[in-house]
Amino acid sequence: MMNLTFPEFDDEEIKNLQQCLDSKWVTQGPFTKKFEGLFAARHQVKHALATTSCTAALHLATLALDLKPGDEVIIPALTWVTSAHAAEYVGAKAVFAEIEADTFNLDPKAFEAAITPRTKAVVAVHLFGLAANMGELMRIAKKHNVAVIEDAACATGTTYNGKPVGSTGDLGCFSFHPRKVVTTGEGGMVTTENDALAAKVASLRNHGSTGPGPLGDPTRPYHMGTFNMLGFNLRLSDIQAAVGVAQMAKLDRLLAERQTLVARYRELLSNVDEIALPAVPKGCGHTYQSFVLRVLKGGRDRRNAVMNHMQKAGIQTRPGTHAVHRLGYYANKYGLKPEMFPIAANAEDTTITLPLFPGMTEADLKVVSDALKESLRG
Ligand SMILES: Cc1ncc(COP(=O)(O)O)c(C=O)c1O
Repeated sequence: MMNLTFPEFDDEEIKNLQQCLDSKWVTQGPFTKKFEGLFAARHQVKHALATTSCTAALHLATLALDLKPGDEVIIPALTWVTSAHAAEYVGAKAVFAEIEADTFNLDPKAFEAAITPRTKAVVAVHLFGLAANMGELMRIAKKHNVAVIEDAACATGTTYNGKPVGSTGDLGCFSFHPRKVVTTGEGGMVTTENDALAAKVASLRNHGSTGPGPLGDPTRPYHMGTFNMLGFNLRLSDIQAAVGVAQMAKLDRLLAERQTLVARYRELLSNVDEIALPAVPKGCGHTYQSFVLRVLKGGRDRRNAVMNHMQKAGIQTRPGTHAVHRLGYYANKYGLKPEMFPIAANAEDTTITLPLFPGMTEADLKVVSDALKESLRG
């Protein structure tokens, strides 16, 4: 079976892991600090704070922005479910808005139309690694005084108009799940330029620790910190960060390799008129964390038949992602109907993610492309 993706590890990860284990310091520590420093430099942000997942990063972002019951957070209707859960974790309401059919990202016009006096934030998702239209989204958010959380789970290392994602909104959230461009097994990162938000995230991921206690001197053996916030343990371990440091050194090569592979996929599939290949608007970078195409005719049944055929040919595929408004939690809680966001619903039903991973050969690309063409014929 050819998997959708495989992470790439080599001696560097093993060397760092050995060093971490030998040091006997395995919780958040020196490797985490190094990982955060590399990540902040690469994304041109003042602060990068490692955490256990992108979901945790999104949760920390909604906590740091002090979102609460009565507040509304606008989420693109097509995304991973936790882009929306983060609002719900803090009692705010996830409000969905339609996506653009060609980019799968939040439609700025739909975002503006969904704003109410209760709107406090928007989650600008860079879906599948394609930078969202940050120019328009930021303009609208500023006009209505709405905070921007960039969900860059799939977008480590990419840019919008030359500026790294995660550096424009109030906070950026990244994922290091194994299906992402770089991985720490599980893991995430919060980025921000804002000192106060960074301090809040640092405290909230560490049980809500708010610094030295009234007795002051942290060098004293009796010293105990203060906890003035309801925090969580969302720290990344140094074992994971040791892998992250090695992965960051590969990031640019891995991104370049994905571009090369996609360029070849585009050639091999250029004459297949029954599919739409991913659109990349000018100025929007794409990591191709997922290479997602759309089957143009025949709806979900045809798409499913194509995927079944690919599976029989030994090739793993997946739908792009969820139309979140159709999932039980949201549909039941807010009485949402599938037809409310037809573009998102159609995107879930008609998309296919093809295998894409470092080390993929010309033969692999041909096998997948030929199987896809054959499946479309069948
Ligand atoms: C857009 C988006 N947001 C958030 C997440 C959650 O990331 P994690 O698995 O690190 O919690 C994902 C994961 O696939 C994602 O694709």
